[in-house]
Amino acid sequence: MTTILFIGDIVGPMGVTYLERRLPALAAEHRPDFILANAENTALHSNGAGGSCGMRPDLLDRLFTLGVDLVTGGNHSWDGPHGRTIHADPRIVRPLNVGRLAPGRGAAVVDKGGVRLGVINLISGTAMQGVDSPLDAVEGQLAAWDGAVDATLVDFHGESVMEKLALAFAFAGRVTGVFGTHTHVPTLDTRILPGGTAYVTDVGMTGPGEGIQGYAPELFVNTFRLRLPSGDPLAFASGAIELGAVVVRCEGGRAVSIARVV
Ligand SMILES: [Fe+2]
Ligand SMILES: [Fe+2]
Repeated sequence: MTTILFIGDIVGPMGVTYLERRLPALAAEHRPDFILANAENTALHSNGAGGSCGMRPDLLDRLFTLGVDLVTGGNHSWDGPHGRTIHADPRIVRPLNVGRLAPGRGAAVVDKGGVRLGVINLISGTAMQGVDSPLDAVEGQLAAWDGAVDATLVDFHGESVMEKLALAFAFAGRVTGVFGTHTHVPTLDTRILPGGTAYVTDVGMTGPGEGIQGYAPELFVNTFRLRLPSGDPLAFASGAIELGAVVVRCEGGRAVSIARVV
Protein backbone atom coordinates (compact mmCIF):
# COMPACT_ATOMS: atom_id res chain seq x y z
CA MET A 1 0.00 0.00 0.00
CA THR A 2 1.29 3.45 -0.92
CA THR A 3 0.07 6.57 0.86
CA ILE A 4 0.21 10.04 -0.67
CA LEU A 5 -0.48 13.31 1.10
CA PHE A 6 -1.39 16.19 -1.18
CA ILE A 7 -1.50 19.72 0.23
CA GLY A 8 -3.52 22.31 -1.70
CA ASP A 9 -2.39 25.82 -2.68
CA ILE A 10 -0.21 27.04 0.19
CA VAL A 11 -0.82 30.76 0.65
CA GLY A 12 1.92 32.92 2.10
CA PRO A 13 4.87 32.36 4.42
CA MET A 14 2.24 31.92 7.14
CA GLY A 15 0.99 28.84 5.31
CA VAL A 16 4.53 27.45 5.28
CA THR A 17 4.98 28.28 8.98
CA TYR A 18 1.69 26.52 9.76
CA LEU A 19 2.92 23.39 7.98
CA GLU A 20 6.18 23.51 9.94
CA ARG A 21 4.12 23.24 13.09
CA ARG A 22 1.50 20.81 11.80
CA LEU A 23 3.07 18.54 9.20
CA PRO A 24 5.22 16.43 11.56
CA ALA A 25 2.08 15.34 13.45
CA LEU A 26 0.14 14.78 10.23
CA ALA A 27 2.97 12.66 8.85
CA ALA A 28 3.09 10.62 12.06
CA GLU A 29 -0.66 10.06 11.85
CA HIS A 30 -1.01 9.22 8.15
CA ARG A 31 2.50 7.91 7.39
CA PRO A 32 2.65 9.18 3.79
CA ASP A 33 5.20 7.65 1.45
CA PHE A 34 4.98 10.78 -0.70
CA ILE A 35 4.13 14.39 0.15
CA LEU A 36 3.13 16.76 -2.64
CA ALA A 37 2.19 20.41 -2.26
CA ASN A 38 0.94 23.13 -4.55
CA ALA A 39 3.05 26.20 -3.70
CA GLU A 40 2.08 28.73 -6.38
CA ASN A 41 0.89 31.26 -3.77
CA THR A 42 3.62 31.00 -1.14
CA ALA A 43 5.29 34.31 -2.01
CA LEU A 44 3.94 37.78 -2.59
CA HIS A 45 5.86 40.14 -4.82
CA SER A 46 4.66 43.68 -4.37
CA ASN A 47 5.02 46.18 -7.13
CA GLY A 48 3.02 49.00 -5.57
CA ALA A 49 -0.50 48.73 -6.88
CA GLY A 50 -1.53 45.15 -7.36
CA GLY A 51 1.34 42.72 -7.01
CA SER A 52 1.92 39.14 -7.89
CA CYS A 53 1.97 35.72 -6.27
CA GLY A 54 4.46 32.95 -7.02
CA MET A 55 7.28 31.24 -5.18
CA ARG A 56 10.53 32.12 -3.44
CA PRO A 57 13.60 29.89 -3.02
CA ASP A 58 13.74 30.22 0.78
CA LEU A 59 10.09 29.23 1.17
CA LEU A 60 10.53 26.28 -1.19
CA ASP A 61 13.58 25.18 0.81
CA ARG A 62 11.50 25.20 3.97
CA LEU A 63 8.90 22.96 2.30
CA PHE A 64 11.54 20.52 1.07
CA THR A 65 13.14 20.47 4.55
CA LEU A 66 9.72 19.51 5.91
CA GLY A 67 9.65 16.46 3.68
CA VAL A 68 7.71 17.71 0.66
CA ASP A 69 8.88 15.57 -2.26
CA LEU A 70 7.50 17.62 -5.12
CA VAL A 71 5.94 21.05 -5.54
CA THR A 72 3.25 21.71 -8.12
CA GLY A 73 2.02 25.05 -9.44
CA GLY A 74 -0.46 26.76 -11.68
CA ASN A 75 -1.09 30.16 -13.23
CA HIS A 76 1.35 31.72 -10.72
CA SER A 77 4.21 29.29 -11.40
CA TRP A 78 6.18 31.96 -13.25
CA ASP A 79 5.28 35.03 -11.14
CA GLY A 80 7.82 37.25 -9.43
CA PRO A 81 11.58 37.71 -9.71
CA HIS A 82 12.29 33.98 -9.20
CA GLY A 83 9.62 32.80 -11.63
CA ARG A 84 12.06 31.82 -14.34
CA THR A 85 14.93 30.46 -12.24
CA ILE A 86 13.20 28.26 -9.65
CA HIS A 87 12.25 25.79 -12.36
CA ALA A 88 15.85 24.61 -12.56
CA ASP A 89 14.99 22.59 -9.43
CA PRO A 90 13.73 19.13 -10.50
CA ARG A 91 11.49 19.02 -7.40
CA ILE A 92 9.25 21.69 -8.95
CA VAL A 93 6.72 21.12 -11.70
CA ARG A 94 4.50 23.65 -13.45
CA PRO A 95 1.52 23.10 -15.77
CA LEU A 96 2.36 20.76 -18.63
CA ASN A 97 -0.03 22.12 -21.24
CA VAL A 98 1.63 25.49 -21.83
CA GLY A 99 4.08 26.63 -24.48
CA ARG A 100 6.86 24.20 -25.33
CA LEU A 101 9.51 26.80 -24.46
CA ALA A 102 8.04 27.83 -21.07
CA PRO A 103 10.56 27.46 -18.22
CA GLY A 104 10.22 24.28 -16.20
CA ARG A 105 8.75 20.84 -16.67
CA GLY A 106 5.13 19.77 -16.55
CA ALA A 107 5.63 16.28 -15.15
CA ALA A 108 8.10 14.44 -12.97
CA VAL A 109 8.67 11.00 -11.47
CA VAL A 110 9.44 10.73 -7.76
CA ASP A 111 11.16 7.42 -7.06
CA LYS A 112 11.03 6.47 -3.37
CA GLY A 113 11.05 3.15 -1.61
CA GLY A 114 10.80 1.25 -4.86
CA VAL A 115 7.67 3.14 -5.98
CA ARG A 116 7.83 5.43 -9.00
CA LEU A 117 5.17 8.12 -8.60
CA GLY A 118 4.48 10.08 -11.77
CA VAL A 119 3.06 13.55 -11.21
CA ILE A 120 1.45 15.63 -13.94
CA ASN A 121 0.53 19.28 -13.41
CA LEU A 122 -2.19 20.66 -15.71
CA ILE A 123 -3.92 23.97 -16.12
CA SER A 124 -7.34 24.85 -17.49
CA GLY A 125 -8.15 27.67 -19.86
CA THR A 126 -10.36 28.96 -17.02
CA ALA A 127 -7.19 29.70 -15.03
CA MET A 128 -4.85 30.86 -17.79
CA GLN A 129 -5.37 31.92 -21.37
CA GLY A 130 -3.85 30.26 -24.39
CA VAL A 131 -3.17 26.82 -22.95
CA ASP A 132 -3.25 23.53 -24.82
CA SER A 133 -5.75 20.71 -24.27
CA PRO A 134 -5.26 19.18 -20.81
CA LEU A 135 -6.57 15.84 -22.09
CA ASP A 136 -4.10 15.73 -24.95
CA ALA A 137 -1.32 16.65 -22.55
CA VAL A 138 -2.12 13.71 -20.25
CA GLU A 139 -2.34 11.31 -23.19
CA GLY A 140 1.05 12.51 -24.38
CA GLN A 141 2.67 12.19 -20.95
CA LEU A 142 1.28 8.71 -20.29
CA ALA A 143 2.56 7.63 -23.69
CA ALA A 144 5.97 9.13 -22.91
CA TRP A 145 6.18 7.23 -19.62
CA ASP A 146 4.94 4.11 -21.38
CA GLY A 147 4.14 2.33 -18.12
CA ALA A 148 7.44 3.23 -16.44
CA VAL A 149 5.59 4.57 -13.38
CA ASP A 150 3.80 2.65 -10.62
CA ALA A 151 1.22 5.34 -9.80
CA THR A 152 0.19 8.59 -11.46
CA LEU A 153 -1.24 11.73 -9.89
CA VAL A 154 -2.62 14.75 -11.69
CA ASP A 155 -2.88 18.24 -10.19
CA PHE A 156 -5.47 19.94 -12.42
CA HIS A 157 -5.45 23.67 -11.80
CA GLY A 158 -8.70 25.36 -12.85
CA GLU A 159 -12.11 26.81 -12.06
CA SER A 160 -14.56 24.50 -13.82
CA VAL A 161 -16.06 21.60 -11.88
CA MET A 162 -17.31 20.03 -15.09
CA GLU A 163 -13.94 20.23 -16.79
CA LYS A 164 -12.15 18.69 -13.81
CA LEU A 165 -14.68 15.86 -13.61
CA ALA A 166 -14.54 15.29 -17.37
CA LEU A 167 -10.76 14.96 -17.28
CA ALA A 168 -10.94 12.63 -14.30
CA PHE A 169 -13.50 10.38 -15.99
CA ALA A 170 -11.50 10.48 -19.23
CA PHE A 171 -8.58 8.90 -17.37
CA ALA A 172 -10.51 6.85 -14.80
CA GLY A 173 -8.61 3.61 -14.27
CA ARG A 174 -5.53 4.98 -16.05
CA VAL A 175 -4.30 7.41 -13.39
CA THR A 176 -4.28 6.99 -9.63
CA GLY A 177 -5.72 10.39 -8.79
CA VAL A 178 -6.95 13.71 -10.14
CA PHE A 179 -6.80 16.52 -7.62
CA GLY A 180 -8.23 19.94 -8.43
CA THR A 181 -6.46 23.09 -7.29
CA HIS A 182 -6.69 26.86 -7.96
CA THR A 183 -10.05 27.90 -6.47
CA HIS A 184 -8.61 27.63 -2.93
CA VAL A 185 -12.07 26.45 -1.81
CA PRO A 186 -12.15 22.88 -0.46
CA THR A 187 -14.86 20.69 -1.93
CA LEU A 188 -16.48 17.71 -0.20
CA ASP A 189 -16.63 15.42 -3.22
CA THR A 190 -13.77 13.07 -2.43
CA ARG A 191 -14.57 9.89 -4.36
CA ILE A 192 -13.04 6.91 -6.12
CA LEU A 193 -13.97 6.70 -9.80
CA PRO A 194 -14.36 3.40 -11.66
CA GLY A 195 -11.04 1.65 -12.11
CA GLY A 196 -9.51 3.18 -8.98
CA THR A 197 -8.96 6.89 -9.63
CA ALA A 198 -9.18 9.14 -6.59
CA TYR A 199 -10.85 12.48 -7.24
CA VAL A 200 -11.60 15.78 -5.56
CA THR A 201 -12.75 18.91 -7.37
CA ASP A 202 -10.60 21.18 -5.23
CA VAL A 203 -8.23 20.30 -2.43
CA GLY A 204 -8.59 23.83 -1.04
CA MET A 205 -5.90 26.15 0.22
CA THR A 206 -3.53 26.05 3.15
CA GLY A 207 -3.56 29.69 4.13
CA PRO A 208 -5.24 32.46 6.12
CA GLY A 209 -8.99 32.05 6.16
CA GLU A 210 -10.50 35.50 6.72
CA GLY A 211 -10.18 36.97 3.25
CA ILE A 212 -10.65 36.03 -0.39
CA GLN A 213 -8.67 32.93 -1.33
CA GLY A 214 -6.11 33.79 1.35
CA TYR A 215 -5.74 37.43 0.33
CA ALA A 216 -7.04 40.68 1.82
CA PRO A 217 -10.40 41.46 0.24
CA GLU A 218 -9.97 45.16 -0.60
CA LEU A 219 -8.20 44.77 -3.94
CA PHE A 220 -10.80 42.34 -5.24
CA VAL A 221 -13.85 44.14 -3.85
CA ASN A 222 -12.71 47.46 -5.29
CA THR A 223 -11.81 45.92 -8.63
CA PHE A 224 -15.35 44.56 -8.94
CA ARG A 225 -16.80 47.88 -7.76
CA LEU A 226 -14.76 49.98 -10.17
CA ARG A 227 -14.53 47.38 -12.92
CA LEU A 228 -10.98 48.74 -13.27
CA PRO A 229 -7.68 47.78 -11.62
CA SER A 230 -8.30 49.10 -8.11
CA GLY A 231 -4.82 50.33 -7.17
CA ASP A 232 -4.96 48.50 -3.82
CA PRO A 233 -1.88 46.48 -2.90
CA LEU A 234 -2.07 42.71 -3.03
CA ALA A 235 -1.82 41.56 0.58
CA PHE A 236 -2.38 38.34 2.50
CA ALA A 237 -5.54 37.91 4.53
CA SER A 238 -5.58 37.73 8.30
CA GLY A 239 -7.06 34.98 10.41
CA ALA A 240 -6.38 31.41 11.38
CA ILE A 241 -4.75 29.16 8.78
CA GLU A 242 -7.07 26.59 7.23
CA LEU A 243 -5.63 23.32 5.96
CA GLY A 244 -6.60 22.03 2.51
CA ALA A 245 -5.21 18.54 2.07
CA VAL A 246 -6.17 15.01 1.10
CA VAL A 247 -4.61 11.65 1.78
CA VAL A 248 -4.84 8.90 -0.81
CA ARG A 249 -3.98 5.26 -0.42
CA CYS A 250 -3.31 3.14 -3.47
CA GLU A 251 -2.29 -0.37 -4.36
CA GLY A 252 -0.79 -1.29 -7.71
CA GLY A 253 -1.50 2.19 -9.06
CA ARG A 254 -5.19 2.01 -8.14
CA ALA A 255 -6.59 4.25 -5.47
CA VAL A 256 -8.49 2.50 -2.71
CA SER A 257 -9.32 5.54 -0.56
CA ILE A 258 -9.23 9.31 -0.51
CA ALA A 259 -10.04 11.39 2.54
CA ARG A 260 -9.72 14.96 3.62
CA VAL A 261 -7.13 15.72 6.26
CA VAL A 262 -8.50 17.88 9.04
FE1 LIG B 1 -3.58 29.21 -6.03
FE1 LIG C 1 -4.06 29.44 -9.38
